[in-house]
Amino acid sequence: MEQKWKTIIEPFKIKSVEPLGFTTREERLCILESAHYNLFNIRAEKVLIDLLTDSGTGAMSAAQWAGIMLGDESYAGARSYYNFENEIKDLTGYKEIIPVHQGRAAEKILFSVIGGKGSYIISNSHFDTTRANVEASGAGAADFPAKGAFDFDKPAPFKGNADLAAMERFIKEKGARNIPLCVMTVTNNSLGGQPVSMANLKGARNLCGKYGIPVFLDCARFAENAYFIKLREKGYNSAPVREIAEEMFETADGAMMSAKKDALANMGGFLAMNNAEWAAKARQLLILTEGFNTYGGLAGRDLEAIAIGLREVLEENYLQYRLRSAEYLGERLLKRGIPIVNPPGGHGVYINAKKFLPHINPRNFPAQTLATRLYLEGGIRGIEIGSLMFGRRDAGGGFLPAAMELVRLAMPRRVYTQSHIDYVIEVLEYIAGNKNSIKGLELVEAPEVLAHFSAKLRPVKQKQGLRV
Ligand code: F0G
Repeated sequence: MEQKWKTIIEPFKIKSVEPLGFTTREERLCILESAHYNLFNIRAEKVLIDLLTDSGTGAMSAAQWAGIMLGDESYAGARSYYNFENEIKDLTGYKEIIPVHQGRAAEKILFSVIGGKGSYIISNSHFDTTRANVEASGAGAADFPAKGAFDFDKPAPFKGNADLAAMERFIKEKGARNIPLCVMTVTNNSLGGQPVSMANLKGARNLCGKYGIPVFLDCARFAENAYFIKLREKGYNSAPVREIAEEMFETADGAMMSAKKDALANMGGFLAMNNAEWAAKARQLLILTEGFNTYGGLAGRDLEAIAIGLREVLEENYLQYRLRSAEYLGERLLKRGIPIVNPPGGHGVYINAKKFLPHINPRNFPAQTLATRLYLEGGIRGIEIGSLMFGRRDAGGGFLPAAMELVRLAMPRRVYTQSHIDYVIEVLEYIAGNKNSIKGLELVEAPEVLAHFSAKLRPVKQKQGLRV
């Protein structure tokens, strides 16, 4: 975009549209009650602005749709696979490219190959499916977030970094031979979509190299991370973002990716690495559950869309618009006194509900309360990252709330325009003006595993009954 204009515009025009699901507040109250105050139970057509996730929810380009028509659906050796493989080899420099149906399939396969009892995977922060797959293999998942990552109010350029000194202490304590892998998650989704600096990626490579531990990137949002490096890290300001991304991949020995994020596709993923022995074992598992080596659970058309998306995502006009969108929302929320994880992340804004609704006891789920209130008032769906997702039972069966209470407003790629975001800001401003009257929620029923997907809640009882 030309330097002299301040306004950063959506770098696309719209060819195909989908209607939004308008409802009244009264309807939404009924919907919430029958969904047991769990936003996963709401039909998407009853959501006006859906910020539940940026995963698989993006809009594909005309070029991607054209690629879909060209998809080669041959079982083995499809042309689309070779397009996919070439694109990923070109970008990452890794030799072995294994397609999978989504990120967690790559995790399941990788940790089945290298994990297991007695071993530990170390990371800046594991995403929750990554942690679950590490643990399912019998291994432990150890996080080493940067100092200051939990100081949500205080901005810093690379709050997604790993604390390398703490990581090294852990390596010494557990023994390098018990640590088969270090995973650097770029950007760091669990901690606010914050980026990792190139210096930290190189630091992790040097540290792990010293102990013979390979490093993989969890590169779901690699392009956003690369653009943050361009904007914030010394020496990268005039580097093409593609070169920055390539340099990021050079700091690692492999990568796993959910292509539902920065490959601008609705489904897909891959595992990529140089280690031929690991790759051979991974392909054995791939055939067992995902499919043959050249499609791995995907249709030829998906492979084609991913190959094209991986190129498009590195266009600088796109990335400038993308990071600006979250920043725009974050800036305006801060101006209205709504606390967020500051600075905003690459793929969305995380509201600090603990600080926003201090009168609600953590036992009454401040973040879930805010998320359901956003739906009630404005038909907006975010996701709770708090005690519903991470709360635990203590030994005596009591409830241990999570350390943080966040509501993530994740932005689908190329889907919403600035006026949609202005609407979200207006609704939140209204909620902020009335927040003292908001009452919390209580748990009615929750399963043991991944409770947030199916838990049932209700508003805490008030004198006049259950109305909110
Ligand atoms: N790694 C990261 C950093 C992720 O954010 C996700 C998914 C995965 C791995 C797993 O990929 O969903 O394709 O199996 N994140 C989504 C989200 C679900 O909403 O943040 P997947």
